[in-house]
Amino acid sequence: MSRVAVATIDLGALKHNLSIVRKNAPHSKILAVIKANAYGHGLETVAKALVAADGFAVAHFEEAITLREIDKDKPIILLQGFADEVELALLLSHSIEPVIHSFYQIDILEKLELPDTTNVWLKIDTGMNRLGIAHLEMLTAWQRLNAIESLKGRVKIMSHFANADDKSHAGTEEQILLFQTLTMQCNTEKSLANSAGLLHWPDSHMDWVRPGIMLYGVSPCEKESADSFELMPVMTLKSRIIAINQIQKDESIGYGHIWKAKQDTPIAVVGIGYGDGYPRHIKENTPVLINKTRYQIVGRVSMDMLCVELNENHNFNVGDEVVLWGEGLPVEEIAKQAGTIAYELLCQVTARVKFEYIPKAFGI
Ligand SMILES: Cc1ncc(COP(=O)(O)O)c(C=O)c1O
Repeated sequence: MSRVAVATIDLGALKHNLSIVRKNAPHSKILAVIKANAYGHGLETVAKALVAADGFAVAHFEEAITLREIDKDKPIILLQGFADEVELALLLSHSIEPVIHSFYQIDILEKLELPDTTNVWLKIDTGMNRLGIAHLEMLTAWQRLNAIESLKGRVKIMSHFANADDKSHAGTEEQILLFQTLTMQCNTEKSLANSAGLLHWPDSHMDWVRPGIMLYGVSPCEKESADSFELMPVMTLKSRIIAINQIQKDESIGYGHIWKAKQDTPIAVVGIGYGDGYPRHIKENTPVLINKTRYQIVGRVSMDMLCVELNENHNFNVGDEVVLWGEGLPVEEIAKQAGTIAYELLCQVTARVKFEYIPKAFGI
């Protein structure tokens, strides 16, 4: 049997979500975050569809170089910066803007002769305590970078939120205030907001917003739905029924026999499993959609298959489509059932799944 799992990527929805970013942050430029293969949606196609974004941000060197081949002009920001002189030289020859998060990178910049067109982003740690120059050392880093002749007027500043997805968390206000205070005297472009910051904290918008997850139609906030932000799901993960079996009361199905039928019941075997990126540890009774109606997964998800309990009156056939998440079934809901976040599920769809982009003739 050839592969039946398909991820449909709705490029119209992607563009719509970009327009929602614009609507929410009308005075900022947009750095579309398309790292991790555009959150699993396909770096190249997503970059081409997001032509209206003002720039792109990725995490890895290779992604940045690939992106530059697709887009010759837009700013491309490399969020993890460079590891050594060789990487830096290659980045600069592709006009990629590295994030400077550590003093070893400033040492390298000071040693090299840089093209006059070099732009860099100084990343300050305002509370995330992950990547970035400690806020107490920010001034030293800023002064050292600005003392490099070819970087004068070309050092931008950014930071990243730790808790913006939680509207009631006081830490976000504190991060905004610290960022504003630290950068008050710095006459340059600034960036702070991810999707959650952008939607909840207008004070964080500044010159550039950096939305990721909302572009893909997913709510960044646990307590608010994507619908409530007018976002549309971009990825719909689907497969097909490959068999329908009648199970008798008290019979069990699948590995470990973890589920037992309470009555005689038809079971649809669906051609998707953890080998495709559907989480094995999903809770019992997680929904799928067949013909727009919810049915529940029963038994253990295996590598290539999972089982769904139908009912006696079903009129489904082998070959009928089953939606695992996406349109009509938010990936956020499935992520909760899997004890994770939608970001992870989207990034985890494997290469075995066929990706179909709609509309196909999208000028890309
Ligand atoms: C530095 C940085 N900015 C922006 C984003 C986008 O965040 P989100 O996907 O929550 O909008 C990320 C994602 O992790 C990030 O690491």
